[in-house]
This record gives sequence, C-alpha cells and structure tokens, in this order.
Amino acid sequence: MDLTVKKYKPFQSVINVPGDKSISHRSVMIAAIANGVSTIDNFLPGDDCLSTVRCMRQLGVEIEQLSPASLKVHGRGLHGLQEAGDYLDVGNSGTTIRFLSGLLAGQEFFSVLTGDASIRRRPMGRVVTPLRQMGAQIWGRNGDRLAPLAIHGSRLQPIHYDSPVASAQVKSAVLLAGLYAKGETSVTEPAQSRDHTERMLAGFGADIRTDGLTAVIRPGELSAQQVLVPGDISSAAFFLTAAAIIPGANITVRKLGLNSTRTGIIEVLEAMGAIIEINNRRTVSGEELGDVTVTGQGLQGIEIGGELIPRLIDEIPVLAVAAALAEGQTIIRDAQELKVKESNRLEAVTYELKRFGVDINETADGLLIRGGRKQYTGAVCESYHDHRIAMACTLMGLASVGETTVRSAECINISFPGFAQLLADLGGGE
Ligand code: S3P
Repeated sequence: MDLTVKKYKPFQSVINVPGDKSISHRSVMIAAIANGVSTIDNFLPGDDCLSTVRCMRQLGVEIEQLSPASLKVHGRGLHGLQEAGDYLDVGNSGTTIRFLSGLLAGQEFFSVLTGDASIRRRPMGRVVTPLRQMGAQIWGRNGDRLAPLAIHGSRLQPIHYDSPVASAQVKSAVLLAGLYAKGETSVTEPAQSRDHTERMLAGFGADIRTDGLTAVIRPGELSAQQVLVPGDISSAAFFLTAAAIIPGANITVRKLGLNSTRTGIIEVLEAMGAIIEINNRRTVSGEELGDVTVTGQGLQGIEIGGELIPRLIDEIPVLAVAAALAEGQTIIRDAQELKVKESNRLEAVTYELKRFGVDINETADGLLIRGGRKQYTGAVCESYHDHRIAMACTLMGLASVGETTVRSAECINISFPGFAQLLADLGGGE
C-alpha cells in the first residue's frame, strides 16, 4: 500500500492516539501467567501486539477480544502455560520474541520462536546469554545469536546480570525468567530503559523492587488486574512533531502515557523551541498520563546523546525530521542501537531524508543534520517495512512542497492502525 500526502497548512486539533505498544504487550503476557481474569482496556490492536495475543493463545491462554481495544485474559497462573503444537510466529515484534524467550525459559516444555525477515536478522544473543547463565536450554541460528530460537524450559537459577545494553527487552526477559528461578534475580543496566515491566509486575503483585539502575525480582504468584493502557507517546510523537515543525500549528493529544522513561521526545522538542503544555496529569494502572499540547514555532538544532537516548530510542527517526526543519545543526550521538531495530534506522532515515533534499549524514553512532533549508521537495520513499521509517517519511512529506508517497506503508499497522485517517482528519493538506 502507498501512502500519499501533501504539504500541510497549520492545523489545530485535539486527538487521541492508540494504546501504548510496550504496555499492551506486557499486559497480555503478564495477565496470561496471573491467577484469575484480567481486563485490558485501550489495548493497541496493532499487528505487533496481535502477534503477542496469537502466541499466548497458542500457549493455551484464553483471550477474548471484546472489541479491538478491549481484552479479557483468562490467566493460567505461573505454571499453567501449555506446549504449543507448532512454532510461535512473532511476526515483526522484537518485544514478543525477547519477552517470550524469558517466559518460556522457565516452562517445562519445548518451544520454537521465529518471525519475519527483520526479526530473523535482529540480535537475539543479548537474551540468550543471560538466560543461559540462568540455566536455560536455548539455541538459535548463527551460534545461537539469531532466530529461529528453540527453547527447552528447565529449572532456572537466579543470577545477577550486568546488561551491556540499556534495553528494556533484555531486562524484561531476565525479570520474566526470574519469576521461575529459585531465589532473587537482578538486572543492572548501563542507563535507564523503559520500566513498564517493573511497574506492571508490581501492579500484578510480584515481589519486585528497583534500586537505581537495578531491578530485583523473586518468584511469586501474580493476581489478575484491570489494566487501562495509556496512549502511546511513540505514536503521538509523529503528531506532536508535526505541530512543532509547522509554525502556527497546535495539537493536543489526550490521555498520553508520560512515564519519565519515555518522555525524552517532549523534553527535546521543548529544548528545540516548541511550546509544550501538559494538563490533567494523573496515574492510572501504575503509569502516569496526561494531555499534551504542542504549539509550533521556529525550532533550533540541538545536540543529544547519553542517558537521554534510551528515553527516546524509538523517536529518533521523527527527531531527524524535526532537525531538518530546525535552524542550525543537530547532532545525535550514542544511538548505535538504532542499527538493530526493525531496520537499520540510521541508514534508512539518512537515505530517505536525502530524497527530500535534507543535509543529513550518518555518523558512527548517530546522525548529523544541518537543518534550516526553507523549502524541501516531496519525494517517493521506501518504508524498509519499518513502521517508524514509514511514518517519519510521511511527516517529512507534510513539511515539503508538492506530493510525497511512501511505498509499502502498510507496515504502519505494526504500531499505529488509523495513522493515515488521523492525519487526514487534521485537514491540513494544501
Ligand atoms: C521496547 C523496548 C525498546 C523499543 C521497542 C519496544 C519494549 O527496545 O525500541 O520498540 O517494549 O520493551 P529495546 O529495549 O531493545 O531498546
């Protein structure tokens, strides 16, 4: 499917974005191993989270989808999952394969996990290594570094794991395995990654605590909960940035997740000069949320790196677009993780934004963007089957003269079903 957009006029709008992808995955998996029936509202019915639902059903969990965004999960308790009759297909979802690796490492049965071409290229050694230290029997292609992964669950030993990467997926795999280990399992990461797993496990009654960059878990039963998933700040980022780059535009995104491990994009847009207001802050299901309003005015380039990067790891493609529209130079450092996302996002965003005339270069660990050119020209872009690249190119199209077409844009459904319609509803096209 091609998605075609035109240059936008300033718009004023109040929108809701779909539920948070990370929290939606966690809610289904954790509810599945809790005792009792959990309800999940504002679940993200995107392809990735539906892959998690499909895999959990294959593992014997009854999941009722009352409406696209409302689920009832009949938890089977910590030891109630059943061997699937076939391999588990995670589609494009890194969260599903890495979390399930941790969860299945402690089950007394055999599982095979695989996914699409992108998943089969992405590094799995980062979860295999700690799980093996816990005593898991787990194998994969290319020296156990690539999917498909085969897992034969075994009795796990608790470990302390010093993770070399600030990755919530690695941390969560170890914590989920820790639910099945005989004693205290802990993970320390080099910088804070998103902490939704820790919060949700605590909400379901797990014996879990955090101390700085370390999360510590002990085995224990979980009990069913009612979960309300906040709006996904990574999806909202495309609309917040659309308002930020179009002077005079104004957007409010309601009920948006504002967990501080995810709000790097808000801080950066503000530092670049966007006017941002947050109202109705509250905490629901252990997660902060609020209504975020962005008003666009001229942006300035910025330098970012270090501990901020994990707090906006999925927003770097969209930030590259903001940087192209900002005056001056933007330098993004310490972002080498982007090379192993759904696509090599540093390469993809550089190649695609150049098509519009953006002065952008890939560096060893990030991007260098010289913004401020007054007019960019619409282009025909490739998505690399990566939802965030497809949406970043679309956004660049909104700020460029003429027409922009994004090829293979159906991948946007991975995280943001309804994206094109919401964009059309802004009514900003010239
Ligand atoms: C996710 C964690 C991040 C992020 C991904 C979702 C999660 O990956 O990029 O889109 O749900 O835990 P890493 O933790 O591997 O950086």
